[in-house]
Amino acid sequence: MERFGLDFGTTNSSLAWAHHDGSVSLCDLDALAPNARVLRSLLYYSPEKRDFVVGQRAIDAYLREDMQGTLIQSIKTFLADDSFEQTWINDRYYKLEDLIAVIFQHVRQKIHELSGGEAVLVIGRPATNVHRPEREAVAQDRLRKAAQLAGFFDVDYLYEPIAAGLAYETSLDHAETVLIGDFGGGTSDFTVMRLGTGNSGDRREDILASGGVQVAGDSFDSRIMWHKLRKYFGGGTTYRSMEGETLPFPKALLAELGVWHHVPFLRSPKTREQLARIRWSSSAPRAIDALQILVEGNYAFFLFQAIEKAKAELSDAEHATIRFRREAIGIDELVKRVEFNSFIEADRSRIETCMASVLEQSGVAPGEIDSVFLTGGSAQIPIIRQMFIDRFGEAKLKAQDYLTSVATGLGWAALRKA
Ligand SMILES: Nc1ncnc2c1ncn2[C@@H]1O[C@H](COP(=O)(O)OP(=O)(O)OP(=O)(O)O)[C@@H](O)[C@H]1O
Ligand SMILES: [Mg+2]
Repeated sequence: MERFGLDFGTTNSSLAWAHHDGSVSLCDLDALAPNARVLRSLLYYSPEKRDFVVGQRAIDAYLREDMQGTLIQSIKTFLADDSFEQTWINDRYYKLEDLIAVIFQHVRQKIHELSGGEAVLVIGRPATNVHRPEREAVAQDRLRKAAQLAGFFDVDYLYEPIAAGLAYETSLDHAETVLIGDFGGGTSDFTVMRLGTGNSGDRREDILASGGVQVAGDSFDSRIMWHKLRKYFGGGTTYRSMEGETLPFPKALLAELGVWHHVPFLRSPKTREQLARIRWSSSAPRAIDALQILVEGNYAFFLFQAIEKAKAELSDAEHATIRFRREAIGIDELVKRVEFNSFIEADRSRIETCMASVLEQSGVAPGEIDSVFLTGGSAQIPIIRQMFIDRFGEAKLKAQDYLTSVATGLGWAALRKA
């Protein structure tokens, strides 16, 4: 039996192989992706193939098939949400675990190609629900069912920030008390942990506190959409009601624009009719046209990709431009880092409150934290890093590869799995 660690992320998934010689290496999970070690946690139901495809192949097929099939992103967001029961795709209902299993099946196929056999697996889980046992049970049950559906039967689970800690631990030759922060697409998770103690097993005695919030990269993208781009799609415009009254463009319609996978909801006959009526008396008919094009053309996914790209550029530059062109939509919108910081201030503050509460539960004073290990794609955002610099000093901040250190740590855990 070979051993693997799987980080199933809201945005990206990665796989690490724990070898018999005691080393751990990352696997290529998506040969078509810009970084083959990182599989976008995306699935696409292709009506042509009557089957699912995942990762970069999902994006390519969605485009090739003129956005006619169903593209699903960020499914992990609903992991602990029992109001998500099932979703209708093509001609059948899928439960959340069925959709997650599609990604796990892809992983199992890769494991098979790499090692030719069955695998023992350690899968990561978010620490967001540690203090909410009912939600934790829902999430855990779904992960377990998805793993079984994909044919993984010997599986352990480990909190993602603890896995990140194990990745950092390999660089230590002494004991440290470490605050680990993992900022992904869906969640921001924290753990205070003693590392380099020489302890093994589940490390229960070394974990001093854990917790998280469901606020991270996806939320930051929505904030940019709301503050910078809603004006292109009717935000700030007015129209005249049947009674001749001047009204602002309906807030409820704009709210759907914040999350790309809600945009198709605007395609209902009722909304289409409402938009046609609004356009007739709109103060900016071209903005209503743009919204109709966005909705009818199923372009929202690509618009959010443009937003995400600009957001990532802002981690290195003081400003970035969101560029997006489709039919009559033409967007060239400059975003300054200071603006972005203000858009995400409420999110940042919730993240900071969570960090402070995990630290308090651990009973460790900030001065007793030896290192702060940061991981996850959103850990590259300067204002997020600044939170830790202010509290602990820059010299204490440590990092490895932001997108894969959780998988690597899960690989180390797989090596020691009983
Ligand atoms: N350079 C960057 N600057 C800012 N954000 C970035 C950068 N690179 C990636 N991101 C963001 O990081 C997020 C993805 O990070 P990551 O792969 O760690 O998340 P995940 O593991 O899939 O999610 P989660 O851990 O929440 O389940 C996305 O929101 C992405 O837009
Ligand atoms: Mg993650």
